[in-house]
Amino acid sequence: MDDEKFYLDTIERVIPNHQEKLAEAFYEFLELEHLYDSAAETVRTQLNIYDNEFSMKFQRNPIHGIESRIKSPQSIVEKLRRKGYPLSAKSAREHLTDIAGVRVVCYYVSDIYTLAELLTMRGDFKPVKIKDYIKTPKPSGYRSLHLIVMVPVYLSSCRQEVPVEIQVRTIGMDYWASLEHQLHYKTNSTIPPELSDELTELAGTIRETDQRMQAIYDKINTL
Ligand code: GTP
Ligand code: MG
Repeated sequence: MDDEKFYLDTIERVIPNHQEKLAEAFYEFLELEHLYDSAAETVRTQLNIYDNEFSMKFQRNPIHGIESRIKSPQSIVEKLRRKGYPLSAKSAREHLTDIAGVRVVCYYVSDIYTLAELLTMRGDFKPVKIKDYIKTPKPSGYRSLHLIVMVPVYLSSCRQEVPVEIQVRTIGMDYWASLEHQLHYKTNSTIPPELSDELTELAGTIRETDQRMQAIYDKINTL
């Protein structure tokens, strides 16, 4: 306890009002969380509107499932540190575009592009970056369409534009990515090259399956 008091007094001498500054930083992170969570929720709502509209008009849902997550304060700080940016909520807003993430799992590859077009064409979700890992898969075999869009959030005092990373993929792509992630993505465990090659090959099998499913769907639709 004495030690704690000693350290707190020392910090106080070097950084006056450090407790208030910590509380302020904590509050700024809470505000950040609320803002990005609201943006992700806005995207989810819009996706559900399209899904329900398709269901009503065409008796078919293009969306199998939606997940969203907000990056934890620890991961935000880790990423800022890794990239050499200042460690603050303000810096996170300036430098990170994946604080809010929405993952949309569709049935067919064509659903992915339809949804991406719908999301970006209205003007209120402004696309700032599109990475098409379906046309050009990552060397690992990973496939998905990644969109970063600016989403308007209306707070009581102002309107804010908040980036949201949307990953759109088929059930097959999601199956592969989830298992591959568990096996090694962003972990320290390096898996043997022959197994890693096999995973890449399996991504190709799933790609082919997606194409064949799409072909069946297209043929049935033109009957
Ligand atoms: P990060 O700093 O990791 O966010 O990379 P980045 O900004 O270059 O983004 P990138 O386009 O690589 O996409 C990042 C996200 O896509 C990751 O957080 C994963 O969710 C997903 N992802 C990218 N590559 C892979 C992969 O090889 N396997 C799996 N399972 N997921 C991947
Ligand atoms: Mg990321």
